[in-house]
Amino acid sequence: MAEATFAKGLEGVIAAESSICKINGEIGLLSYRGYEIADLAENSNFEETTWLLLFGHLPSATELADFTKKLASRRAIDSYIVDVLRALPRTTHPMIALQAAVAAHGSVGEIPAGPDPRNVDRAIDLIARFPTMVAAFARIREGLEPIAPREDLGHGQNFLYMVNGEVPDEETGHIFDVCLILHMEHSFNASTFTGRVVASSLAPMDASVSAAVGSLYGPLHGGANEQVLHMLKDVPGPDAAAQWVADALASKRKIMGMGHRVYKAKDPRSFILESFLKRISEKRGDDRDYRTLKTIERTMGEIVEKQGKKIYPNVDFFSGSLYQLLGIQTEEFTPIFAIARVVGWTAHILEQWQENRIFRPRALYTGETELKWKPVSDR
Ligand code: COA
Repeated sequence: MAEATFAKGLEGVIAAESSICKINGEIGLLSYRGYEIADLAENSNFEETTWLLLFGHLPSATELADFTKKLASRRAIDSYIVDVLRALPRTTHPMIALQAAVAAHGSVGEIPAGPDPRNVDRAIDLIARFPTMVAAFARIREGLEPIAPREDLGHGQNFLYMVNGEVPDEETGHIFDVCLILHMEHSFNASTFTGRVVASSLAPMDASVSAAVGSLYGPLHGGANEQVLHMLKDVPGPDAAAQWVADALASKRKIMGMGHRVYKAKDPRSFILESFLKRISEKRGDDRDYRTLKTIERTMGEIVEKQGKKIYPNVDFFSGSLYQLLGIQTEEFTPIFAIARVVGWTAHILEQWQENRIFRPRALYTGETELKWKPVSDR
């Protein structure tokens, strides 16, 4: 057996081979299957990038048309899943509701784990139905009836329609689709790793994906953009932001949406989100958040540079404010992340099953040894 090393949080550990996503954190590059994220954000759409991540190459025109149709035709969820969502208390966090709905989705037509073509279909079902599950619970917890999906709308546009009951304008639909592309995949993050670990035991697709949803729920992973909004409530405004950052850093407070374990440069996704936030802020005549965030970024850059640290905006820095301007409620931010990331999760689970070996690391034991059991009367 190879000599074991210990790395807290598995930092720097390579846990598997993968051809899905490449990150160069030093210079801030991210690519899916060899295509730069900025190229995909500029030119692709949800359906095409989904195909790329699942099948490893860009689709032909016919493949794309068929796939787009297939995804749209599978959006509806069975009534028993809506019943599961209705049975939950209205105070349930939407991520818990989503995890329950995905587990319930797995209770019908279970397919054995492994490289079975039916699992590709299962992945497509989940990708198509995540928005319907999230939107249904968003309405149920408001005391409203779920809205059935429409096949004639794009993936993101249909989701917003199912939440609000109104078809968003094309620009909003497009921006939302690009946001989904940006969040689809990010290599071995906690939730993707969770999904692969569960799948490696040969648990079925839906069980593996519902575990990944649970992993994404945590504030150290999926919840950071929500934290940025809380932070912005604290900052008195764009003009006071520089002083606010200086004070926060002096008292060793973390600035939300800044810094990353892997990126030591500005996250490539944050450039795109920033440009959308700027555009929508100007259109809506409400650029308070945008100007505040830019001042925070600039001031923080100046301060940490002097300290020799590399801390830049990550994907969450601009996205919360953008979602807010698009009329999305804060509690839906993490479920929206899941609507996108389910593509990465399922692509990874399918890859895991190509050459599966169960994940089984070891622990560095730090407990007692050689104790002798005593009867309870002697303890
Ligand atoms: N604000 C202020 N200081 C920060 C910072 C931030 N957002 N991120 C990192 N730093 C500082 C740390 O205080 C530490 O300073 P020190 O060496 O003087 O102790 C140094 O930079 C290294 O940071 P560390 O927390 O060890 O990096 P990490 O790789 O373990 O953590 C994050 C990465 C993302 C958890 C961290 O940057 C963070 O908490 N960011 C804010 C939350 C966030 O936006 N999360 C979403 C990530 S996509």
